Amino acid sequence: MKRVITANCDQIEPTSVKEYEQAGGLRGLKKALKMTPREIIREVKQSNLRGRGGAGYPTGSKWEQLLNIKGTPKYIVANADEGEPGTFKDKLLLEKDPLRVLEGMIIAGYVFQAKKGYLYLRGEYAFLEKLLLEALAELEEAGYLGENILKTDFSFAIEIHLGAGAYICGENSALLNSLEGKIGRPRVKPPHLAEVGLYGQPTLVNNVETFACIPTIVEQGGKKYAAWGTAASGGTKLVCLSGHIARPGVYEVPFGLTLRDLIFDLGGGPRERKIKFYHLGGQSGPCGFLHQLDTPYCYQALKEVGLSVGSGAIVVLDESVCVLDYLKQVTEFFRHESCGKCTPCREGNKQLFFLLEKLTRGEGSKEDLKLIKRLSNLLRTASFCGLGRSATRALDTCWEHLETEILAHLDKHCPAGVCFAQGGRGAVDMKL
Ligand SMILES: Cc1cc2nc3c(=O)[nH]c(=O)nc-3n(C[C@H](O)[C@H](O)[C@H](O)COP(=O)(O)O)c2cc1C
Ligand code: SF4
Repeated sequence: MKRVITANCDQIEPTSVKEYEQAGGLRGLKKALKMTPREIIREVKQSNLRGRGGAGYPTGSKWEQLLNIKGTPKYIVANADEGEPGTFKDKLLLEKDPLRVLEGMIIAGYVFQAKKGYLYLRGEYAFLEKLLLEALAELEEAGYLGENILKTDFSFAIEIHLGAGAYICGENSALLNSLEGKIGRPRVKPPHLAEVGLYGQPTLVNNVETFACIPTIVEQGGKKYAAWGTAASGGTKLVCLSGHIARPGVYEVPFGLTLRDLIFDLGGGPRERKIKFYHLGGQSGPCGFLHQLDTPYCYQALKEVGLSVGSGAIVVLDESVCVLDYLKQVTEFFRHESCGKCTPCREGNKQLFFLLEKLTRGEGSKEDLKLIKRLSNLLRTASFCGLGRSATRALDTCWEHLETEILAHLDKHCPAGVCFAQGGRGAVDMKL
């Protein structure tokens, strides 16, 4: 399997610039400093790289839009909030090859002639701060960061900023508010962050994995990188396998393998029982089912069957799981993480949780089912930001494919044997 952005993981000392250089690191930056910003962006566009943070926006287009905006200074921000449950690939990159991520940020700094970059590190990853500071110090010592990088006119500094454990701070505008010391709540868009970002200045926010792809794209060329994936989904992707799977972990895969290849060949298939469904791209993503296993893992093919890559998480759930109990837990996550700014999400997730809980207690009615559908529609269409808008994707997809199992709960029957067993999770008290 082609390893591009994980090639150095466990092969070199993570903070050693010398070992990173010997492994081919920093060639991308050296090459970039001899190119114009537009030449670099052309390579990024040709790579077909799409943002790895979840939304999958084409990186080359994002960079081009920011380049065309006049204001200065511009800021570079790496989104290392990685709050999406089941997602742990940015952690791997930051822990095993931080220099690659930082090199990507420095190249971006050069493209936009920025003076300052920030790496927003999720609070739960505070243990990585020391290692990242060491990596920054090593880069500065070797002349790749700080004043007059490699004796050019370009100067750039990177600061590590620690989050405090809020999932919403992964949303790019909430992240910038948090960086500014404000409450981490999403901003009204437009204006987009490329125009009015950090401290009101034009700003680039990219995911850690996205930045990690940049050195290779610049060094080896966008076309070569694109060819490692499918026609429209360029390159490789870090996939996080977890749940009821024999070999959980982070895998770098070329786009185009099927979901079956990922779950069965790489992940070794389910541990004990048969697979019931799998949750793609974190809690905010859709759930996939057995008949969709032969879908190629790439942005287009997944979209065609109502699925998505999202953050790269694939959580496998076997037949021991009650779909309703699972959806209740997903809703509990969003209820807890809702920032409270808008009513549909703040109240909707709370009410949805109440209703799902009621069903798992065997006290639900047909009216409740109608209400759940209405609430889901409300959340999807009237929420202020992506958190609320995607909070019921799992619910919607499971409802479509596992409705019989959900409806059985109206007759106090839980086909998986989870909800009404003595002490089963359906019996827990709600502490709201
Ligand atoms: C609720 C919510 C949480 C998010 N969490 C993350 C996150 O933890 N990491 C991330 O990179 N992007 C996250 N995003 C997406 C970011 O808003 C943004 O699209 C991304 O950082 C852009 O980088 P990319 O283009 O490289 O993917 C989140 C979005 C939403 C709506
Ligand atoms: S959708 Fe949820 S997280 Fe987003 S602004 Fe509204 S309350 Fe906050």
